[in-house]
Amino acid sequence: MKIAIGNDHAGYGLKEIIKNHLQEKGFDIKDFGTDSTESTDYPDFAMKVGEAVAAGDFERGILVCGTGIGISIAANKVPGVYCGLVGDCFSAKASRWHNNTNIIALGARVIGPGLALDIVDTWLGTEFKGGRHQRRIDKITEIEKRYLVKN
Ligand code: RB5
Repeated sequence: MKIAIGNDHAGYGLKEIIKNHLQEKGFDIKDFGTDSTESTDYPDFAMKVGEAVAAGDFERGILVCGTGIGISIAANKVPGVYCGLVGDCFSAKASRWHNNTNIIALGARVIGPGLALDIVDTWLGTEFKGGRHQRRIDKITEIEKRYLVKN
């Protein structure tokens, strides 16, 4: 599975831990940065990962900032991105089962590395259930289309 990963300065340390963990497990990871703790703006990395996932170049994306909030909001502005901010394993599973998330956002200042890795493993190992959940996602997509500005 090809996974895009990105973060701001606050997410750098946790991103490295997640990236190493997934590479050891054999996942194909592309790191979109940032690659240090020097101050950056999380929308820049949310957009890079969001566009790469929405284009179909990567099956999933993982984003990390301080809380996961800003980077998830920014990622969800990219059409085709379904990003969930996740801080527990139940939500990680449900975000796949029910919401078919293609990106998750994690807060490096909120959760520790042990929980973060459990969340990531759970999320990557859970399939979308479809059925009535697809109908609801289709409605989200309709909202997205309604507000898309034609360039
Ligand atoms: C950076 O200080 C911080 O605002 C950012 O990492 C994130 O938490 C935003 O939502």
